[in-house]
Amino acid sequence: MVGKICGTGSYAPPHIMDNNDLAKIVDTSDEWIRERTGIVRRHVIQEETTSYMAGQAAMRAIEQSGTDPEEIDLILAATSSSETVFPCMACEVQKMIGAKRAAGFDINAACTGFVLAYNTAQAYISAGIYRTVLVIGAESMSNMVDWTDRSTCILFGDGAGAVLLKAEEGTPCRMAAYSDGKKGEALTALSRHRKGWEELTGEEKKSDKESYIQMDGQAVFKFAVRKVPEIVEELLGQENLGVEDVDWFILHQANRRIVEAAAKRLKADIAKFPMNLDEYGNTSGASIPILLDEMNRKGMFERGQKIVLAGFGAGLTWAACLTEW
Ligand code: COA
Repeated sequence: MVGKICGTGSYAPPHIMDNNDLAKIVDTSDEWIRERTGIVRRHVIQEETTSYMAGQAAMRAIEQSGTDPEEIDLILAATSSSETVFPCMACEVQKMIGAKRAAGFDINAACTGFVLAYNTAQAYISAGIYRTVLVIGAESMSNMVDWTDRSTCILFGDGAGAVLLKAEEGTPCRMAAYSDGKKGEALTALSRHRKGWEELTGEEKKSDKESYIQMDGQAVFKFAVRKVPEIVEELLGQENLGVEDVDWFILHQANRRIVEAAAKRLKADIAKFPMNLDEYGNTSGASIPILLDEMNRKGMFERGQKIVLAGFGAGLTWAACLTEW
C-alpha cells in the first residue's frame, strides 16, 4: 500500500512584513536580504495561533479531497512553535475539524518536521495500520526569533500547510532520514520562561534572549548544501533512477542559494526546483506543504509524476522521500 495525496491546503496570515519593513527595525536592507536569501516578504501572525493556522490548512485540504473528517485515522502535525506544549497541535486540529476517530501526535524536528511526518504517515499506510492520514506542518517562527538580531529575524515567516493521504494499492515510497546531534549547536532555540519580561531576574533575561533562535548561518548553509544532494542521490540510487527521471524536487524553502546549490550539485535542471520563499521566507516545517498546495492549486502536478521531498534543519536533521503524485 502507498499513501496518495488527495487534497492539499495552506494558510498564511494576511499581515505581511517586507524587507523594507525589517530595515526599519534592524540594520539591514532589501538588497542584502534578496541577494543573500531570495526572500522579499514574509507573512507574520498577529492574532492567529499556530494551531489556528494548522486547522485552516487542514480544513482546506479536507475540503479539496471531499473527505468526511470522520474518515481520518491519524493526524500528524509537524511543529516546533506551537502555542502549547500540550495538548499537542494534532489534538487541537482534531477538535477544530471534527476528526473524531483520529489518533494524533506532533513531530518536532524543526524544518525537517514535515518530511518526517510525511514519511511516518507513509510507513503507517504501507504497514496497513491506517488508511487516511492528515499530515500538517505549521509554524509561528515570528515568536521564535529575536527581532533585534538581523542575522536571523530576516529569514523566517509564519504559515501552515497540510496534505491528506489515502491508502491505495501500490509500491511504498522510498524514504530516508538522518540526524547528527553532535552538530546541534549550529541551530538552537531553548524553551521559554513562562514569566513576563519585567518579572525576570538579570540571569533569566540573559537566558531568555538565548531562548530565541541562535544560528551559525554558514555552518547550516554548508550542511544543507552537502546533505540534501547526498540523501536525494541515495534515494534515486535505490530505485536506479537519475535526476532526469524526477519531475519535481520540492526542497525545504530556507534560502534560494541553498536550493540552487543543491540543484547544481545534483546536476539537475533548476526549473524542477520550485520556490516560493520570496513570498513566505523560511516557514520551517510549513514550507514544503505550503509549496505543495500552491503547486497543486496551480495545476502543476499530474498523476504518476515522481516527486522528491527533502527537508533539513535543526538537530541537525535531514530527511527525504521519493513519492508519486
Ligand atoms: N543585513 C545586512 N547585513 C547582515 C545581515 C543582514 N540581515 N545579517 C548579517 N549581516 C552581515 C554580517 O554581520 C556580516 O558582516 P561583517 O562581514 O561585517 O561581519 C556580513 O553580513 C556577512 O555575514 P555572513 O553571516 O557571512 O553572511 P552569509 O553570506 O553567510 O549569509 C545567511 C548569512 C544567514 C543568509 C546565510 O548564512 C544562510 O542563509 N545560512 C543558512 C541559514 C538557514 O537557512 N537556516 C535555516 C535552515 S533550516
